[in-house]
Amino acid sequence: MQGQRIPIGEVTLNVVIQGEGEPVLLAHGFPLDHSMWEAQINVLAAEGYQVIAPDLRGFGKSDPAKDKTTMSQFADDLSRLLAKLNVTKPVTFCGLSMGGYIAWQFFLRHRARLARLILCDTRANDDDENVARGRLVMAAEVERFGLEKAPGTMLPKLLGPVTLEKNEAVVEALRATILRQDPAGVAAAQRGMAERQNVVDVLPTIDVPTLLICGDADAITPPEVMQEMAAAIPGAEYAEIAHAGHMAPMERAVETNTAMLDFLKST
Ligand code: MLT
Repeated sequence: MQGQRIPIGEVTLNVVIQGEGEPVLLAHGFPLDHSMWEAQINVLAAEGYQVIAPDLRGFGKSDPAKDKTTMSQFADDLSRLLAKLNVTKPVTFCGLSMGGYIAWQFFLRHRARLARLILCDTRANDDDENVARGRLVMAAEVERFGLEKAPGTMLPKLLGPVTLEKNEAVVEALRATILRQDPAGVAAAQRGMAERQNVVDVLPTIDVPTLLICGDADAITPPEVMQEMAAAIPGAEYAEIAHAGHMAPMERAVETNTAMLDFLKST
């Protein structure tokens, strides 16, 4: 899908905008770009929403990132993007995994811009020392050697077994998305995720309607983790998507879209 280049100050973001109506902002996961939401963009636009799907700083066709991009910087970029687009109505912020880490910061820093949260396959805790160290190693490696080896290690973790076995189109789309990312942007986001805030204590203070979506075979943020988060957020709804891994919106688009639309229409 063709995006528009929108300058937001320090950087210019590539953004796909479709439809008219209540705004829904889609924040992609790592190390991906807006294309992971391809199966959501047209459907939500056709249902009467204004869908805003940016490539985050350092990803897709947006400007490159330097050294480290924190989750707060990503959240501030998105707030600036909404201001630039004159979106004054509070948005539904839908983030997957890293997009979810950004959603927490958007709630903490830009609450006035937020109407609802949809959190897909994500977590609220920060990294333990080992995981954080692993991210720094990966960041240095991709800067040195590029992303060629990344799909081999990442695809089996990102996708559920049913998708890996039976849905070549999704496997290949995800592989191509990872391979076209800029190593510098990927490294910068890894460094930012390694030092992200633990927001477990924030969950009980969330005061917007919230939906959590999780693939039943998500190996990175498993259903137990997301169910626990749903229990901690007042009034939160939880939808589990059968036969999907960490990339539920790509792996089971119809079921994910139904969960999103049911929530959007009922809250
Ligand atoms: C993602 O899908 O965005 C990643 O799994 C996030 C992470 O590496 O923690």
